[in-house]
Amino acid sequence: MIQSFNKINKVSGTLSLSGDKSISHRSLLISSLANGKSIIKNLSDSDDVRSTIKCLNELGIESSFKDNIYSISGRGFKGYRKPARQLDAENSGTTARLLTGILSVQKFESTINGDSSLSSRPMKRIIEPLTQMGSKIKSDVEGRLPLQILPAENMRAINYNMPIASAQVKSSILFTGLHLDEQTSVIESIQTRNHTENLLNLRVVVEDEKIISSVSKHNYPDAKEYFIPGDISSAMFFVVLTLLTKNSELLLKNVSLNPTRTECLKLLKKMGGNIQIDEKGISNNEVYGDLIVKSSDLSNIKIENEIIPLIIDEIPALTITGIFARGVFELRGASELRVKESDRIKAICANLLKIGLDVEEYEDGFSVSGKIKQISKQFESFGDHRIAMAFSILTSLLKDGGKVEGFESVSVSNPDFLKQLKSISS
Ligand code: S3P
Repeated sequence: MIQSFNKINKVSGTLSLSGDKSISHRSLLISSLANGKSIIKNLSDSDDVRSTIKCLNELGIESSFKDNIYSISGRGFKGYRKPARQLDAENSGTTARLLTGILSVQKFESTINGDSSLSSRPMKRIIEPLTQMGSKIKSDVEGRLPLQILPAENMRAINYNMPIASAQVKSSILFTGLHLDEQTSVIESIQTRNHTENLLNLRVVVEDEKIISSVSKHNYPDAKEYFIPGDISSAMFFVVLTLLTKNSELLLKNVSLNPTRTECLKLLKKMGGNIQIDEKGISNNEVYGDLIVKSSDLSNIKIENEIIPLIIDEIPALTITGIFARGVFELRGASELRVKESDRIKAICANLLKIGLDVEEYEDGFSVSGKIKQISKQFESFGDHRIAMAFSILTSLLKDGGKVEGFESVSVSNPDFLKQLKSISS
């Protein structure tokens, strides 16, 4: 579907976004493991989170939704039911990777699959550590989906030094370790988002600049109540639009302010962004609060190194600020972008070339400079929700507006994106 956008002249008003996608997946998975009924408020309404719900339903987990409250009945320790068919994670890497960690300790065989994008993404990164723990996972030689997960005996705890910075890999290991008597530890030299540790209340220590997160059966969860703060990655598109639109001000209510996710806001503030952050509360160790964003004059700074995993999902949105900020936008050390829902480095560079910018593509990033010359008015989504939203924001900032092809992919993380955009723009 091709979506047209006119130029937005002013942004104003308030947005309350549905729950953070990463925290939503984990709340569902943890609730499914507990014995009895958990309550989840403000669960993400994204397609990705729906994929997790559908997989859990196949595994015998019953749930219902009423008055914006999600109720889910967990089946207890190793209590999932053998699914009648293949589990379909669709587009969701978090569903596939975290669920594989849990499936590998169940007493039955299961197979997890996904759409063509997910089936081309690397899974060896979870197969290797889970196999070290005794899991029996079969895949093709490339280590892609579908994964066939066989029942395993003699599972063992491990200490795992993370070779790549990935919260999905870390969480997959922690979910397997949650079923073992001995303590499993994941050791990170570069920090990644810590929602699994927060929601399971795990012990996390810092030793010799390494972050060590440990888990065992003692951390097995009870049923409880969750409030999911608004999705900061979805919020970023509106933050960027407000900063770049004249005479604008936007209030975003109850957004996740988990410190492993707010690096994008810190970066925008360093660039000159007028963003006020007001902490309001904390739920299951997850901090949340309001953001007040105002139009700003921005200057680029080089983005690289250890902050990359902490802003990985916000890079498409940050790139749009980079185009309008003074100086060169330069991103390095971000090769993980090549294995997201699309090759995001390629997707971003291809779209930026359409508006005549000077773009240099590197294996691990890109740089952009120059002035916009609107050669083409239509951008490609590459079937990737965050590329679709980033370039929707860009078209809304262009003199004559523009179009985004494959716009429907936005529902992977935010089905209400267009409605929300319209409600704050004039
Ligand atoms: C996620 C972790 C990140 C992120 C993804 C969600 C998570 O992936 O890009 O959108 O919920 O753990 P990686 O852990 O593979 O970097």
